[in-house]
Amino acid sequence: MRFIVLMSVKIKFLAFIDGDVMILSAMRANIGKAAMMIRMGGLVAFPTETVYGLGASIRNSRAVAAIFEAKGRPTFNPLITHIAEAEQMNEFAVPDSRAVFLAQKFWPGPLTFVLQRKPQQAFLDLVCAGLPTMTIRCPNHPVALELIERAGVPIAAPSANRSQTLSPTTAEAVWKSLDERVDIILDGGACSVGVESTILDLTTPQAVILRAGGITKEDLEDALQETVYFSDGNPDKPTSPGQLSRHYAPAKTFRINVTDPRPDELFIAFGSGFNGAQLNLSPQGDLREAAANLFAFMRAADENKKFNAIAMAPIPMEGLGVAINDRIKRASRRA
Ligand code: TXA
Ligand code: MG
Repeated sequence: MRFIVLMSVKIKFLAFIDGDVMILSAMRANIGKAAMMIRMGGLVAFPTETVYGLGASIRNSRAVAAIFEAKGRPTFNPLITHIAEAEQMNEFAVPDSRAVFLAQKFWPGPLTFVLQRKPQQAFLDLVCAGLPTMTIRCPNHPVALELIERAGVPIAAPSANRSQTLSPTTAEAVWKSLDERVDIILDGGACSVGVESTILDLTTPQAVILRAGGITKEDLEDALQETVYFSDGNPDKPTSPGQLSRHYAPAKTFRINVTDPRPDELFIAFGSGFNGAQLNLSPQGDLREAAANLFAFMRAADENKKFNAIAMAPIPMEGLGVAINDRIKRASRRA
């Protein structure tokens, strides 16, 4: 009996996830609802001091896939992980002394670090777009901090707008851009900074600004007592954001759009009708599930010693399929 009651509560809650967007004023009870939504795998738009973010639990790859779907981005860009305490960096990343020092000085605040990821946390693959780096910040906004704390998990969030449009600084702008693609919009008024955070790459011996923002080059140089560089956008230089072209790719030969795999190929299927496949991104043909599994499956296929090569079934070019195809096309291209 108890089970049935719990089930029906869950079903109701899931129905509510799929329903219309709720715009809630950012008072305590509503932040609690939003935190619950994050834990349930929903999407919550929330205010930070820079711009509104479109958030999901970093531990729920399906929810992270839903972020990419809602933004309508044709590629998987790495997302910023928002934390409430600087110490949470250590759980996922390897912060060096510069990160620890700058966090003490500027967090919470509009400064984001690119750090080396810790290994073996496959659930972060989609958040990090398959990169060995992780992008982290602690936002200076009471609503954002309370939401992260009460969700009990860091929140992955890009700006809460459709791809190719302006970053929103009010709840209304989020609603106009994303409408029912988001489950809850927490209205915390206008953002005080209004431009995105500064992104500082700390994976190299010299700190490099990948995106200018709320904290300036001078602020950072004063704090570190050393020269901080601006990225020159040259993809051949390891310090530029062009390192984004260093996307994760399997070491093995990787063929895509394959319907008839060879015996030496580990086959990653999509949808029904591939009974002999070693892996299936989504037997039901659900693109969100496929996106959530993509990086972990490519990695598992690469590590499987029984096969010399990898083949993947065709993925439809619609919705999230566009970003999946973009990624596997790059991964299948040999350097
Ligand atoms: O102020 C902000 O940073 C806002 C609020 C919501 O926190 N967030 C934001 O996220 O602007 P987004 O996703 O719109 O922009 C993050 C940028 C993207 O251009 C992404 O490519 C870049 O940061 N980025 C993320 N991780 C990276 C990495 N590991 N290496 C290089 N660039 C990275
Ligand atoms: Mg953005």
